[in-house]
Amino acid sequence: MGSTSVNLSGWELDNPVIPASGTFGYGKEFSLLYDINCLGTFSFKGTTLEPRFGNPTPRIAECTSGMLNSVGLQNPGIDHVLKKELPEMKTYFKKKVIANISGFSVFEYGEIARRLNGQEQIGLLEVNISCPNVHGGGMSFGTCPEAAAKVTEAVKAAADKPVYIKLSPNVTDIASIARACEEAGADGISMINTLMGMRIDLKTGKPVLANKAGGFSGPAVFPVALRMVYQVYEAVHIPIIGMGGVSSAEDVIEMMLAGASAVQIGAANLTDPFVCQRIIEKLPDVMKKYRIESLSGIIGGAHRG
Ligand code: SIN
Repeated sequence: MGSTSVNLSGWELDNPVIPASGTFGYGKEFSLLYDINCLGTFSFKGTTLEPRFGNPTPRIAECTSGMLNSVGLQNPGIDHVLKKELPEMKTYFKKKVIANISGFSVFEYGEIARRLNGQEQIGLLEVNISCPNVHGGGMSFGTCPEAAAKVTEAVKAAADKPVYIKLSPNVTDIASIARACEEAGADGISMINTLMGMRIDLKTGKPVLANKAGGFSGPAVFPVALRMVYQVYEAVHIPIIGMGGVSSAEDVIEMMLAGASAVQIGAANLTDPFVCQRIIEKLPDVMKKYRIESLSGIIGGAHRG
């Protein structure tokens, strides 16, 4: 059997399969369905300084080949995560986890990073500067290279864990934002977050989502995500965690050939809670089919030759 292990800034993962933030909570519910220790790791729900109830409902809308969400960063806040979620997580997840963090000011990002830094359970910080569903934070930092760099610097100053910045696809030139993050000290890039979208209910003539617009994800966005990962791989020298519409072992391999060192699976967890387990089981067969001996050896393979 070929080797499925990959490395993220010195952290060795058994495989590249990582449930994406916001589709896996803090892992508890999924651990009741299967042993989630088969995962490379997972990225926990975007956590803010204060607890958040999120946006008004409806905040989910189905679409052809995907879905819209406008959750609005609902989460219990950093104190609760430190006191309750992380200690409890130790009972059902034995690996390190990715801490996904969000903020409404540069200070807030730095402060959350500082509080998480001492936690040995955290493998890396994934800094979300790309949430399209909140005002005054989230995506407003991720659509401007200078603002993205400021957040990166604040988190790097507050933490010595690897810092991966999660980028928005809702920009003209994602490579310039990735480069600004790298220059500001980022250890890696996570990409892509959701694409802004909208649906209108024909019965009411009004937007389906209470927040009007939301983030589009699911299989339909896969080629867009793949193209952006390919572009950013050429623009930076730091690892990329690729995501966006990934739902099969073949997609994982395609994403790695484009340049991803590991791959997150998001919306697919919501239609099939076992999808990550299935992908991990299937990877060796797909590797054999395409004569791949080592997954880490194919990273960026589409750029070579
Ligand atoms: C949300 O909670 O609104 C989704 C998070 C995100 O898209 O970054």
